[in-house]
Amino acid sequence: MGRRGPRGARAGGLRGRRRRARDPARRGLARAAVRAPLRDGPRAAARRARAPRRRLPGARPVTRRKHRLPSLEPSGSDGGGPVTRLTELGDDAAALRRTFALFPSGVAAIAAEVDGVRRVLVASSFQVGISADPPLVLFAVQRTSESWPVLRRAERLGVSVLGEAHEDACRQLAAREPDRFAGIPVTRTARGAVLVDGAPVHLECSVEGETPAGDHDLVLLRVHALATDPAASPLVFHGSTFRRLEPARTAA
Ligand SMILES: Cc1cc2nc3c(=O)[nH]c(=O)nc-3n(C[C@H](O)[C@H](O)[C@H](O)COP(=O)(O)O)c2cc1C
Repeated sequence: MGRRGPRGARAGGLRGRRRRARDPARRGLARAAVRAPLRDGPRAAARRARAPRRRLPGARPVTRRKHRLPSLEPSGSDGGGPVTRLTELGDDAAALRRTFALFPSGVAAIAAEVDGVRRVLVASSFQVGISADPPLVLFAVQRTSESWPVLRRAERLGVSVLGEAHEDACRQLAAREPDRFAGIPVTRTARGAVLVDGAPVHLECSVEGETPAGDHDLVLLRVHALATDPAASPLVFHGSTFRRLEPARTAA
């Protein structure tokens, strides 16, 4: 019988093994002892640890693989991992556009009536979840935009996250045509925000701030009012084409 501590554990039991496990010289022994039942002595446990493992009939051998973290090095330089070969970007603007296009996004129509004229900008760079307190969303606008210098003067901007029924409307709202709204049902709020009817999400916003970002400006919008229609599915922009959302798994 060994000595027992206050809780009835053997003094040479679990705590003793933990102490040994901290000692690198004794770690192998301690590991073996942890696997061994308490009645075994440390020598018997170490013997068992050195013995080859028995396998159940039909069981596959267990191979211990070292897990490699994906490396940002081009594959091949480190023996090759499951990493796509990276290409230096240089000034390949087309490659950058193609790459950015593979990020799926929603599409928002940002619109208002300014000086009695309805103006609109379509933005796939629109993002929510930027801040909850205060409630902020953002989008990036090209420096070459003709609509933004006018739109930004509006007291309130309407943001409509376009639905899958808005594919043609989206193209029309983005086109530089005299009346981008022709035939597209919209609602004007009391403060001049213009909302596209049938959108899954409507926001009424004001401009919170603008920050230069290369050839675009980042525009932060503060959300003042909102409306949602969860039954309306959003339009998805991916690979320079419009798509629809589908459940990742079909129901059984
Ligand atoms: C699907 C789609 C997404 C677009 N996303 C953006 C965007 O995020 N930012 C932007 O400045 N322009 C974007 N545009 C282009 C603008 O909607 C608009 O066509 C462009 O600014 C020219 O019009 P404007 O000079 O009146 O602004 C997008 C166009 C389409 C069709």
